[in-house]
Amino acid sequence: MLNVPAVKVVSHDPEQTRQLGAQLGKALQTGDVFCLQGELGAGKTTLVQGIAQGWGSLDSVSSPTFILVNVYRRADEKKGAATPPLLFHMDAYRLDSASEAEELDLDSMLAEGALIVEWPERMPGLIPAENLWLTIEHTGETEREMKFTASGKRYEELLGLIREGA
Ligand SMILES: Nc1ncnc2c1ncn2[C@@H]1O[C@H](COP(=O)(O)OP(=O)(O)OP(=O)(O)O)[C@@H](O)[C@H]1O
Ligand SMILES: [Mg+2]
Repeated sequence: MLNVPAVKVVSHDPEQTRQLGAQLGKALQTGDVFCLQGELGAGKTTLVQGIAQGWGSLDSVSSPTFILVNVYRRADEKKGAATPPLLFHMDAYRLDSASEAEELDLDSMLAEGALIVEWPERMPGLIPAENLWLTIEHTGETEREMKFTASGKRYEELLGLIREGA
């Protein structure tokens, strides 16, 4: 059997989800791709709030449902550091067509920041093969089962970090 690198974490409330996100946000690097899959209200945007906070966002996180991509900035106190200067928060829920998705220039986003995608399964073929893929299951009123799967060395590293925090 192939041993797929994955880590399961249970979150018991939104604050725990934000804390988990903050841990990831602190480790964020330019070019990182995180995919967040889960039904409506699973907690994808809640996790992004934590990621943005841990990364040091100057902007508050909102659901990019209508404009597809939000761009967040951070105070640039560590010039030249690995920390990405920009964070792109995409929501593919309302993508109407593949051609609309192709107009989004992911490559230039990844050159200058990190990318988090909600509803990544709605833009197949466009997400870079190497990524951290999170599947969130609604298992109770405020309980969420989160399964992180890594494709690529960089993301296996991040799995280690999640494992330590879990
Ligand atoms: N453990 C938990 N983790 C995250 N959110 C939780 C948790 N328990 C309850 N919630 C609640 O579930 C809701 C999650 O909403 P959120 O906007 O993050 O979902 P989403 O996955 O982004 O949905 P959408 O597909 O509509 O964008 C929030 O109201 C949040 O307070
Ligand atoms: Mg959302």
